[in-house]
Amino acid sequence: MLEVVCPAAELKLTTTTYLAGGAAIDATGAPLPEATLAGALAADAVLLGAVGGPRWDGLPYATRPERALLGLRKALAAFANLRPVRLYDALVDASTLRPEVVRGVDLVVVRELVGGLYFGEPRGITGDRGVNTMVYTVPEIERIARAGFRLARGRRKLLHSIDKANVLETTELWRKVVTRLGKDEFPDIKLEHMLVDNCAMQLVRNPRQFDVVLTENLFGDILSDEAAMLTGSIGMLSSASVGEADAEGRVRGIYEPVHGSAPDIAGQDKANPLAAILSAALLLRYSAAAEAPAARIEAAVEKVLASGLRTGDLARPGEPAVGTRAMGDAVLAALH
Ligand code: IPM
Ligand code: MG
Repeated sequence: MLEVVCPAAELKLTTTTYLAGGAAIDATGAPLPEATLAGALAADAVLLGAVGGPRWDGLPYATRPERALLGLRKALAAFANLRPVRLYDALVDASTLRPEVVRGVDLVVVRELVGGLYFGEPRGITGDRGVNTMVYTVPEIERIARAGFRLARGRRKLLHSIDKANVLETTELWRKVVTRLGKDEFPDIKLEHMLVDNCAMQLVRNPRQFDVVLTENLFGDILSDEAAMLTGSIGMLSSASVGEADAEGRVRGIYEPVHGSAPDIAGQDKANPLAAILSAALLLRYSAAAEAPAARIEAAVEKVLASGLRTGDLARPGEPAVGTRAMGDAVLAALH
């Protein structure tokens, strides 16, 4: 897709492929080899495939495929994970929820990605005690909140900040900082606070009430999988993990489908490639500031879905399904 839309938009595309995750472990012993890290740091953007699989599940945490993901996020300071959840009209019957509930859903989960429970210290298992720490500093909350507010400004100007302020002090601070920032810097954005358990319920009860959903790392991990099902399949969900913009307004980022490596269907030409394709569109939008080619890819996906083509995860019982390759080819053809 990138090779087709970039030249047409007068964008020069240079790509290099590196190993990460299980493939890297098999080849080098490490999930995130030095060369991969160096390449990612030197690049404008990273397009990432899903990592993980049962073959590597027995390894210690520090050497598991998932470390490649967490290591890249941290090294690139990609603190803002944007997960657009948009239901394409053609897929309104693909969701397990009723069409009248999900029709028109269009929200973005803004998940903090390099802090919170995933990275907090102390952590570990000593004897019969396991510890993880949920920790956020004021600057960490401010930068992710700004990313959320700015995104809301370009959308419906509504931001839900998700916390557990009735129980967790970390998120009490989160709520305080987000409230102040909203007042001081984003008075034009309507700010709502919502407890994470209520948010999980509201996402399936009335998902259209949301525009931008701002949240902590682990809460965002969980809520974004839940939100994915509003779109019919997690195979539709793309993501951008971005850092701070540089002086020219360009952001370095990691772009990847939200879904995992789906080991049960790997290598069988069954997986839905649309989340990966839509991630390439996000790469163009955020890291190349190239809206037109990004929109061109998204329009091609929409066209193919409207034509009725479905991968297995999207097909209703009895409906015919096409494979990964056929779906990819169809989107490519729709680009022209
Ligand atoms: C995600 C994934 C990852 C995460 C895993 C694979 C480490 O679930 O990107 O949502 O938990 O962040
Ligand atoms: Mg997840």
